[in-house]
Parts: sequence; structure tokens; C-alpha cells
Amino acid sequence: MKKTRNNSNSTNNRNSELRLNVFVARATGLSRRKADRAVIDGRVTVNGEMVTEPARRVSKNVSVSLDGEKIAIDRDYTWILMNKPRGYITSRADENGRPTVMEILPDKFGRLFPVGRLDIDTTGVLLFTDDGQTTQKLLHPKYGVPRKYRVEISGKLTEEEKEVASRGVIIDGRRAIPGELELVGRSRTGEIYEIEFSEGRYHEVKKFFAVIGHEVTRLERISFAGITIGKLNPGEWRTLSKIELKSVKSRMERYVECNNRKS
Ligand code: URA
Repeated sequence: MKKTRNNSNSTNNRNSELRLNVFVARATGLSRRKADRAVIDGRVTVNGEMVTEPARRVSKNVSVSLDGEKIAIDRDYTWILMNKPRGYITSRADENGRPTVMEILPDKFGRLFPVGRLDIDTTGVLLFTDDGQTTQKLLHPKYGVPRKYRVEISGKLTEEEKEVASRGVIIDGRRAIPGELELVGRSRTGEIYEIEFSEGRYHEVKKFFAVIGHEVTRLERISFAGITIGKLNPGEWRTLSKIELKSVKSRMERYVECNNRKS
């Protein structure tokens, strides 16, 4: 009897342990090979101590850090993708009683929060989650997570204005340089561009075009961290699949790696 209990305890303990490379891969979305490399390169600490053996067994409850930042294995976080409609503010509540994006979601998702903000008249990709750690990374300007917009402007950009736009313009005292600027269509009153930024600054698209002398007449975020709106119409939403989530997280780790290499 005693023996059986001991055996089952040790089996349970073993079951709740996993190899460090598996821990790192699961927590970050890195491939197993990259997780191995990160451990071997001394980028991983366990309870504050550097461990360089990928096969070291650790319990899920230990404190593991990668490049000095704590990483953890997901408890079951929820991630939702919404095509934000116009006329809704991106906030959990509005003191002026305007409709909020939270009202579109069923009550059971009341604990979630929007990942970043879109203006009331902007449509497109908006994520919601209860995963604060990944959200912080996605929104931190230093990681340069790409946001791509389709933007309709009044009038046409001259060649000179296109030059100025590609070099970037000063917004609120700092240069904003688009990663990409491409003319994709024409409207009755102007032109339609796709433009990418990687910082998520307040009103960045409207301010950018205002500096060049054009008003934004329509704005849609068409992707965020590589997540696109797909077949969702404005006001529709769906939960992200495990595969999509894994790909967001692994892309996130690439942005982090890239940033670490630059600094
Ligand atoms: N830039 C803007 O100006 N507005 C948005 O909603 C998003 C980016």
C-alpha cells in the first residue's frame, strides 16, 4: 500500500516536471531547436540561476526567465479576434455612455481586455485576451510588433509627398517611419494606401498623413502581429486557435530576439 502510494507520488511528480527546453518552447512559442539553443547559450535562468542543459527537468512552478524576462507556461488564456466596427470605442467602459467593444462580446468574456486601441471610427483587427504578459510584449514599442493599415486619404499624394512619407515624418517630436507604404487603390475623393508601422503610437496614421497635408477619411487595421481579419465582417469575432496563438507567440519571440540583437 505504502509502496503504491510512493510510486504514484513519484509518477505524479515526474508528470508535472518537464525538460527545460520543452518548458521554454511551450512558454514562448520558440521551436524546440531554438529553445535548445537559447538554453545552451545561457539565456535561460531557473529560479535565478543560469542552466545550460536543455534536458534538465524542471517543475512547471519554478520561475524561469529568458533574457531576463520571466516566462510561464500558459494556463488556459483566452484570445479573441474581432473585426472592430465603426462607432465603438476601444475601452472596457465609457464614462460618456458610448458603446464599447466589450458590449459586442458575450458576458462570459467580461474579464478580457482589448490589446491596444483603435479609434472610434477605425475598423479591423482587434485582439482581446486575459494574458497580460504577452499583451505587454505585443504593445511594447521596443519590440516593434507590426501593424498594417488600409487607409483612405483625401486627395492624392504627389511624388514629393511620397518621398517625404517614405523617409518618415515627425509626430509628437519623434520621427515615424513607415515599414511599408503602397498605393493599392483610388476612391472617389482620394487614394487608398497600405501602410505599416511598428510602434503603435497614439493616432499614428491620422497624425502621419496630417503632417503631409492629407486627411484620413477611412481607416482599417488589416493586420496586427501577423494576424489578419480573414473572413470576419465588422462586428464579428472568433476565438484564436491554438495554432494561431502559437504563431503569434513565436513571432513575438522573433521580434524580441531581433530587438535584443539590435541593442
Ligand atoms: N492610427 C490612428 O490614427 N488611428 C487608429 O485607430 C490606429 C492607428
